[in-house]
Amino acid sequence: MLLHDESPAGVELRESSYVLGTYARTPFHPREGKGARLADAEGKIYWDLLSGIAVNALGYRHPAILRALREASEGLLHVSNLFFHPWQGILAERLVAGSGLARAFFCNSGTEANEAALKFARLRNPGRSKVVAIEESFHGRTFGSLSLTGHEAYRTPFAPLVSGDVVFVPPNDTEALEKAVDGETSAIFLEPIMGEGGIIPLSSKFMQTASVLADRHGALLVCDEIQCGLGRTGKLFAFEHAGIVPDMVTLAKPLGGGLPLGAVLVGPRVEDLVKPGHHGTTFGGNPVACRLGVALLAAIEEERLLAKIEALGAWLESELAPLAGKHGILDVRGMGLMWGIELDRPATPVMKALLAEGFVVGTARDKVIRLLPPYIVPKKALQEFVKALVKALENTSSSNS
Ligand SMILES: Cc1ncc(COP(=O)(O)O)c(C=O)c1O
Repeated sequence: MLLHDESPAGVELRESSYVLGTYARTPFHPREGKGARLADAEGKIYWDLLSGIAVNALGYRHPAILRALREASEGLLHVSNLFFHPWQGILAERLVAGSGLARAFFCNSGTEANEAALKFARLRNPGRSKVVAIEESFHGRTFGSLSLTGHEAYRTPFAPLVSGDVVFVPPNDTEALEKAVDGETSAIFLEPIMGEGGIIPLSSKFMQTASVLADRHGALLVCDEIQCGLGRTGKLFAFEHAGIVPDMVTLAKPLGGGLPLGAVLVGPRVEDLVKPGHHGTTFGGNPVACRLGVALLAAIEEERLLAKIEALGAWLESELAPLAGKHGILDVRGMGLMWGIELDRPATPVMKALLAEGFVVGTARDKVIRLLPPYIVPKKALQEFVKALVKALENTSSSNS
């Protein structure tokens, strides 16, 4: 048997020789975790304020996830979608009860959830090929989802994208939305809080206008809650803040408790349109991932995490908002445990300076530091982060901005 060199240098060398270069990885090697803490290959400890980009919502080694995983390991790891297992129905029942929508379809990832929603929208409105989406949105990397993604850098190398007309409107521009949606529109896709676009919350007014326009023109309103959903904003679903119920919601990231799992929740305008053969997947709705999803939703409820997220978010806002206009911070946006700190300089050197100080954070676009901490993050971690951020900004220059 080959003895593998698992040292950071060995891992990086092997990757650079054999793994396709799709990622500009930061040289950080997390190997263990507990709660909101990560340890790297050398044993250095970090606060994790990114959660694997919103996946590890309960942090690491959460007892509910460990228990579900242990129990699941005694059962079948895969059951074909030709047959039944209990966990899709149990998870779907919980998601339906929490959302007010009617049914769930399970897939493996966010982009697949949006692909499914695009197909279901076609079933509702055959012949309508126009979709309205938002500038700077991100919906995934497969061709359908990429066609809805309003950022040229992702789209241009792969043009032409899926045929049909995708009209992009600026975030929160209700007038542009009103002009764009018409009788040819099959669906409106929006992220209630735009994640990759730099943490841009859509206003309740904009979301409500989208809902009214969708009703008026027979289009379907799809909320992509892949990054902002399942508790992150302090409500189980981010659309709840606007007091609307969309026709479809797409989910992924935290849904499988750390394993790949995506879903489309559909409302009454869609539930009866989808028939056997219209759509499917081999792995989607895997019993282990669904079981972990049930454990995640149960923990959110039993540990009253939504109230905790809301309170922590309000506290973090009170700490971050006064920093806007100081230390090179231009703006602070977000809600709950989803925050973007827009800088006057590139965010990557600041992210790396924070990493060196023991804080794992993300970036979005060029100049935004992105925070997506696990729901169980202690206030202490965020207090320490705010201090470290100011220090990192003092030590990084704005000259190359
Ligand atoms: C809002 C949103 N939609 C879709 C996706 C795509 O999800 P996945 O990477 O699981 O395909 C992402 C991923 O970052 C996302 O943030």
